[in-house]
Amino acid sequence: MNILVTGGRGYIGSHACKLLARAGHKVVCIDDESYGRADVSAYAECHRISTRDSDKLTALLRDKSIDAVMHFAAYIFVGESVEKPDLYYENNVAGTLSLLAAMKAAEVKKIIFSSTCATYAELKNPEPLTELHAQDPISPYGRSKLMCEQIMRDYCATLGFSAVIFRYFNASGADPENEFGEDHVPETHLVPLAIRAALENRPDFVVNGSDFATADGTAVRDYIHVSDIARAHVLGIGFAFKNPGFHAFNLGNNRGYSILEVLKGIESVCGKKINFRFGPRREGDAAMLVGDNALARRLLGWSPELPDLSMILETAVAWEKRRKAQP
Ligand SMILES: NC(=O)c1ccc[n+]([C@@H]2O[C@H](COP(=O)([O-])OP(=O)(O)OC[C@H]3O[C@@H](n4cnc5c(N)ncnc54)[C@H](O)[C@@H]3O)[C@@H](O)[C@H]2O)c1
Repeated sequence: MNILVTGGRGYIGSHACKLLARAGHKVVCIDDESYGRADVSAYAECHRISTRDSDKLTALLRDKSIDAVMHFAAYIFVGESVEKPDLYYENNVAGTLSLLAAMKAAEVKKIIFSSTCATYAELKNPEPLTELHAQDPISPYGRSKLMCEQIMRDYCATLGFSAVIFRYFNASGADPENEFGEDHVPETHLVPLAIRAALENRPDFVVNGSDFATADGTAVRDYIHVSDIARAHVLGIGFAFKNPGFHAFNLGNNRGYSILEVLKGIESVCGKKINFRFGPRREGDAAMLVGDNALARRLLGWSPELPDLSMILETAVAWEKRRKAQP
């Protein structure tokens, strides 16, 4: 099929471009290059276009006979979204509306959308979250993603769209062939930051919170390999064609690791100690966030191929070494 990938030069989108091309699809990537820098030209035809440019998108969708859209493009920094909510609603929500308008005009009605576990309401118990857990995000970033989900639900109900929504838990790791990896600027995610702390002998890595109600007092998260997320997207296309309407799936590993367990894993892969100290909790951080992935297993036939934390960390460390060596 002909697949349009938005945000295909970013962390997760680049992995998806590669796996889509490997699966035999023709991939067209649009990215405004506000953040993404991955060179996906071996896997996709690339255009520098914003999701907000509806007219250009309509022309592209028609010209390339696009069958389905995979929508990764968004701003992703939770903290920044608190400071600049207008920017997040404009880019993430208005950008999605503009993309959907182009799709409607070009009669392309299948969309696979990157959502997040940050749309879920705070957890009251440590059980893995199912897709039925209440949604009540606490940041403008999370709300922008939930708004997009709700808009797509309505497009499915009345405009004949099919939407497959993937709510990722903590996307981590890197392409096992070490071609792509995590490269956010600024980087805010635990795994790459802790790897840099280890490799560069940084003096004061801060672990936020040591008094959570977890076994070792640090926050527990569900780390899911980026290539497993990308594979789910490839499966999502077939699902969207066979199953009209709105379908949401968690993409997680069904198990959580504490921050201290992640740091220990990184120390073991790098063969170096991380000099860390405890800082205060960040506002809104839940003690435990783990996703139940049974629905994606059952309906998509998806299961993580790289579920072990050690595999996730090994690929992430290999990528970080390559990234550092690049000019
Ligand atoms: N990284 C995670 O752990 C995680 C977790 C849950 C959900 N997500 C979602 O997954 C998606 C991809 O995240 P990522 O980590 O790859 O982020 P990323 O910043 O690496 O990639 C996003 C890409 O979108 C592009 N972009 C942003 N706004 C655009 C616009 N208006 N038009 C065109 N291109 C635009 C950026 O240049 C970038 O290349 C996002 O929608 C994010 O909300 C990510």
